[in-house]
Amino acid sequence: MRQSAYSLILKDHLHFKLTPISIRELLFIQDAPCEILGIENGLFKPILHKNSFINKQIIKDLIEKGQIHLFVAHQDRRRMIEYIQNSMTQVTRTLSQGQPLEKGKTILNLMTLHLGFLYRWPTDDDLLKTQHQVVKNCAYFLLSRPEIHEALYHSFIAQKHHYVYAQPVISSLFLLGFLKYSHLYSDKEIEDLFVTSYFKDIGMAIIPVEKYDLNRLNDRDKEMMATHPQHSVEMLRGRLPLSPNHLQIIENHHSFSLLKDDFSTEIIGPKNQQVLAGFETMIVTLMDIMAAMLAGRPFRKASNLFESLDMVKMLIGNQYQQEFRMVVSYFKLLFQSKN
Ligand SMILES: [Fe+2]
Repeated sequence: MRQSAYSLILKDHLHFKLTPISIRELLFIQDAPCEILGIENGLFKPILHKNSFINKQIIKDLIEKGQIHLFVAHQDRRRMIEYIQNSMTQVTRTLSQGQPLEKGKTILNLMTLHLGFLYRWPTDDDLLKTQHQVVKNCAYFLLSRPEIHEALYHSFIAQKHHYVYAQPVISSLFLLGFLKYSHLYSDKEIEDLFVTSYFKDIGMAIIPVEKYDLNRLNDRDKEMMATHPQHSVEMLRGRLPLSPNHLQIIENHHSFSLLKDDFSTEIIGPKNQQVLAGFETMIVTLMDIMAAMLAGRPFRKASNLFESLDMVKMLIGNQYQQEFRMVVSYFKLLFQSKN
């Protein structure tokens, strides 16, 4: 009994010195940059020593043994992040070489993992600038490879990233594909809108990610959630090279998809529509809705393409019939292998 109490004290003491990491991070690491700990019989225990080799089999073995809650010392957290950042930089430098689909899968997964760091430390300029650089490179790569978008989308969904980090990738991929398909914008304009769309939800970082999976939030959390576009603008203004127009798109990106009480779909009907800030805002919002509906949430099922398009049609009403037809044609073309 005394021993178990002592163990608990030891564990508690270590808790203050350790920080959790995601097991996904190991997928992009070939040798442990620091000691990695797990929990065994209720106690923290080193499971990978510094510089030890890591591959898929080792990760698989850890998962089979139930070692999915991993930790590193606080002072080592930055080393893990830098390792991921270096991997990301290497991949972005060689995006045009090798198999485009494999390169695309790797860069989207790394970007999403890194976005998790940014949401955890949103005021960190290094994380923000690194993320921005990779998002720009990714836009350029995706613009030149529309033929891999569908396969990339399906493989990304299969990775089951947390939806908070996956949503910016999916909605921005749809946006980029649609704008390219429309022939209405130059590649540079599309790249800027891709970046705008990708960072539009960073204001959500003010709420701990665990809360997003809850069906019910308290009033204060709901209020914070509903004001995330304003928080995003505050976090990005002066830190990323976004024009006032692009910041305005972010501020209005829920113009007609305001958060519902249970925020299950993040959509309310056309009666509550506000004045839109322009065509770009509408398209950014529509692609956000399409991405949210098609991917599902822990508290609701994914909708099919027809249901998602139907919702979009209801939201934009009769005002944008021509644009809606273009959205339908784009998604039919994107998901042609599923039609
Ligand atoms: Fe949003």
